[in-house]
Amino acid sequence: MSRTIFVTTALPYANGSFHIGHIMEYIQADIWVRSLRMAGHTVHFVCADDTHGAPIMLKAESEGITPQQLVARVAAERPQYLRGFGIAFDHWHSTDSPENIELSQDIYRKLRAAGLIETRCIEQFFDPVKGMFLPDRYIKGECPKCHAKDQYGDACEVCSSVYAPTDLIDPYSTITGARPVLKSSDHFFFKLSDPRCVAFLQDWTTGENARGTRRLQQEVLAKTREWLGKDDGEAKLGDWDISRDAPYFGIEIPDAPGKYFYVWLDAPVGYLAALKAYCSIAGLDYDALVDPAGTTEQVHFIGKDIVYFHALFWPATLKFSGRKTPDQINVHGFITVSGEKMSKSRGTGISPLRYLEIGMNAEWLRYYIAAKLNSHVEDIDFNPDDFMARVNSDLVGKYVNIASRAANFISKYFEGELRYTADTTALAAVWTQAADRVRADIEAREYARAIRDIMAMADRINQAFDAAQPWLIAKGLANADAAQRGALQDICSTALAGFKAMSVMLAPILPQLSARVAGELFGLDRPFVWSDAGVLPTRINPFKHLMQRVDPDMLDALFEPPAAPPEPALVPGGEPIADTIGIEDFSRIDLRIARIVNCEHVEGAAKLLRLTLDVGEGRHRNVFSGIKSAFQPEQLIGRLTVMVANLAPRKMKFGVSEGMVLAASHADDAVDTGIYLLSPDSGAQPGMRVR
Ligand code: 2FM
Ligand code: ZN
Repeated sequence: MSRTIFVTTALPYANGSFHIGHIMEYIQADIWVRSLRMAGHTVHFVCADDTHGAPIMLKAESEGITPQQLVARVAAERPQYLRGFGIAFDHWHSTDSPENIELSQDIYRKLRAAGLIETRCIEQFFDPVKGMFLPDRYIKGECPKCHAKDQYGDACEVCSSVYAPTDLIDPYSTITGARPVLKSSDHFFFKLSDPRCVAFLQDWTTGENARGTRRLQQEVLAKTREWLGKDDGEAKLGDWDISRDAPYFGIEIPDAPGKYFYVWLDAPVGYLAALKAYCSIAGLDYDALVDPAGTTEQVHFIGKDIVYFHALFWPATLKFSGRKTPDQINVHGFITVSGEKMSKSRGTGISPLRYLEIGMNAEWLRYYIAAKLNSHVEDIDFNPDDFMARVNSDLVGKYVNIASRAANFISKYFEGELRYTADTTALAAVWTQAADRVRADIEAREYARAIRDIMAMADRINQAFDAAQPWLIAKGLANADAAQRGALQDICSTALAGFKAMSVMLAPILPQLSARVAGELFGLDRPFVWSDAGVLPTRINPFKHLMQRVDPDMLDALFEPPAAPPEPALVPGGEPIADTIGIEDFSRIDLRIARIVNCEHVEGAAKLLRLTLDVGEGRHRNVFSGIKSAFQPEQLIGRLTVMVANLAPRKMKFGVSEGMVLAASHADDAVDTGIYLLSPDSGAQPGMRVR
């Protein structure tokens, strides 16, 4: 029975380029999709940019562009990655689209009509300078437990305790540095604690889809049981705050001016929006595809960090707005590089774009990732030596090698004609069965097992070929009888029948290579489908080079830090810009606003002034500064400036200096272009941090 399946991968945030984690997920899904298509099923495979939320709004603002411009810039980069890695999405959409606005608002209206939306007035931190409510990640302060400084609003990275942002000591907004104030506003909640939702989720998470298979992997199910509190009988699911106040880059909530959907409400709706947009391009019936009574399957590929949203919020959102719920959520782990964890925003040491730019074959990566993936939520590691070994020894050394050895004899002595002496029905059946096994493994997302199986087949073909020693027959071919000629032809034909079948099995993983094998070697005018595995080939064209081996230099280039930008020209300051440092390096420097409460000459010092500074500590600091040539002491008294407040105290001839004030000047003392003391905008107070 032919199936129709709607498949998505998680929608990536549109505030940055793809990293290797995205590419891994797309490869995993793409292999699955291609395999199902090869079996004759109809698959609609879509994705989109996840565009809304505070981070994108603030990033755009910091660049002086609109969020739409930022999203458009990132979206414009997407095709080169997708094309480069052979990812066959039918359509790439955006959550900032008319389809998504309409669908999200409609879903909300349905949830409201079902009595599942509740308005509650809540108090939250508000940045009075920026004029916006602060998401937890934009609030920092001192940990209430261990008193570590500069901890995030939800959890302490030092002692791991979890708390509310309002528990922080001396909280500040990371956007403006201002002390947040508590402010109340109305929020909309999706009542997930409603008995209807709880009952539905208990059932949905543990139950089976229409095909009689589980919707969730075992380990994912275990997690949802924990969250749902099934085992101790107590419902733990809290209501979900789905609204945010302006300013927010998002979708307006109907009948609620100034309120927007929280990004995670409209993000998964983007799956439907992408499908809908694709349907209008491709002339498909969207309503039929998402009909709850229909037969289309809905499958989402996601990473383990967003299970909560996909296994609880999303099905409930769909169900109680009268829609079809997902049939399967396929969760994968993270990818590490040489054992190193990657950061969600920065990615890892491997840049997918660099991989393509230095001419590495995308199908090597597809093969390697497939060789590591299984159906469990396990992390996988990209290890350069392992990568090279698997591609060079397995893929090229075992699989491609079969074709190059056998095809040459056939071209040379038999004009490309394949002929078998043994029972061809039995041989065809062997390959049909093998392909069935691999197809089933791919459908079950057991890619590593499929590849082990395929490589074992390659080993057997190579061994049989070696044992038959066709080169000896070929050598004596001038005097050989018909039986010997037949034997040579049969040995090579049998090996090539295996090669063709393996090429079919590898087609979901190596679409480009297998398409070349189908077209160039076996003369097919279409890419392989699963049933081709059991059709013994009757002809082969002269062998052409199929795949390069990985060159270790390429791997070096992949891991090399990108080339340094050209030496900067000497700037007016008299010295080039210093080496790059990380934000962690910079944040170790504690810069504070200081008031110069007193200033005087230092007897016997040619360049120094003695400054008495108030940094809001309830005491004064003594700082010597080499700015005498530019200022009279009385000019400075009362002024605000910026100081390095955590510089180790330094004992000088005239006393101890407890910090340093910041001033601009030429690097070369001999060039007198003046000394300019830094001052903050008006409104700054002594003790405020400068960052
Ligand atoms: O975690 C993320 O990167 C989200 N942008 C995923 C969204 S998936 C779906 F809900 F849109
Ligand atoms: Zn702490």
